[in-house]
Amino acid sequence: MPESVPLLDLRRQYDGIREDVLAAIARVCDSQSFILGPEVEALEREIAALTGAACAVGCASGTEALWLALVAAGVKPGDSVITTAFSFFASASAIVRAGATPVFVDVDPGTLNLDAALVDQQLRTKRPENLRAILPVHLYGQCADMAGLDRSAQEFGVAIVEDAAQAIGAEWSGRGAGSLGVAAAFSFYPTKNLSAYGDAGIVTTTRLEMAEHMRRLRNHGSPRRYYHDEFGWNGRMDAIQAAVLRVKLAHVADWNQSRRQRAATYDQLFASAGLTSGLTSSQSVAPVRLLSRSSQAKHVFHQYVIRAQRRDELRKFLADRKIGSKIYYPLPLHLQAAFSYLGLKAGDMPVSEQAAGEVLALPMFPELTAAEIRLVVESIAEFYS
Ligand SMILES: Cc1ncc(COP(=O)(O)O)c(C=O)c1O
Repeated sequence: MPESVPLLDLRRQYDGIREDVLAAIARVCDSQSFILGPEVEALEREIAALTGAACAVGCASGTEALWLALVAAGVKPGDSVITTAFSFFASASAIVRAGATPVFVDVDPGTLNLDAALVDQQLRTKRPENLRAILPVHLYGQCADMAGLDRSAQEFGVAIVEDAAQAIGAEWSGRGAGSLGVAAAFSFYPTKNLSAYGDAGIVTTTRLEMAEHMRRLRNHGSPRRYYHDEFGWNGRMDAIQAAVLRVKLAHVADWNQSRRQRAATYDQLFASAGLTSGLTSSQSVAPVRLLSRSSQAKHVFHQYVIRAQRRDELRKFLADRKIGSKIYYPLPLHLQAAFSYLGLKAGDMPVSEQAAGEVLALPMFPELTAAEIRLVVESIAEFYS
């Protein structure tokens, strides 16, 4: 039996690709070309091909990618953008940085992704002023209900900008995350399924003119050096990050498949330990509940998340046994102090609020062993016994 189980162990991945990564970094050092350039351009082509988008624009982080996508989609000061109340802060702070106001909508109780029915209801009953876009997040690596959101977006004439930060390689009805709206933001933060050796991100888009705009925006709004047509920023990607990402990109489909296999092992062990009453029941009283998996979604399990009774006690119990876990996210966005100006309060997004008190991410990475998964599930069973 293993003595501990880390939430994520990047060293195991590194051990398998070390030579290739070091050679890629050496290639950049030898070229003495450190920002944008051929490595970033090659990565942009490869990510566009992987996602099925027309093109991609490499940038400094996933947060930067969200801002670029929103501005290029036409979001401007005074606009509003619908997004989920249950995500990482950047999903909403990028909207603010674009000068717009986030309009939070609650999540689906099964998947914890933006609830398309509630979005539709909001559009029909209280359509936000100057609504420009809907920004769904593909939480934990599973696409939001893009069929429902797309119907509403089309009917009401607004753009969809995907927050695909956690969803490289994910699909909805056979189409890649990153090709499901006008633009999509990916993060290559070191813990992501495809991760850099520092900060990096990319935007994919189905529209060539948006890609050109974003190339200018990431470089101080400059179409040519020292001439500036608008206010952009320094949001460029480092060549070393692109070179490392290109090495890893060759493995990401296999790594995502390994994540799916590990998720299936967790599911089976939870069921056979009698801890879950099967997939998805949001009304179930089982001590552990799994999130629903949409039949149209190909999940990439950036995180394997359970909803647990007495979650905080369970987390401490696991920590005492050297088993890593993490809470994504402990406080929904509408209750963050930074958004107090919106005037929202506890009770406004009940599904997100309940989820924030129950979710727990368990160890998940492609090299996680079956023995480690068994130890995690057995420890959880011991806690509830
Ligand atoms: C859903 C989501 N959106 C946006 C981001 C921002 O990405 P980054 O950390 O690369 O800026 C992240 C990751 O941290 C994320 O998980």
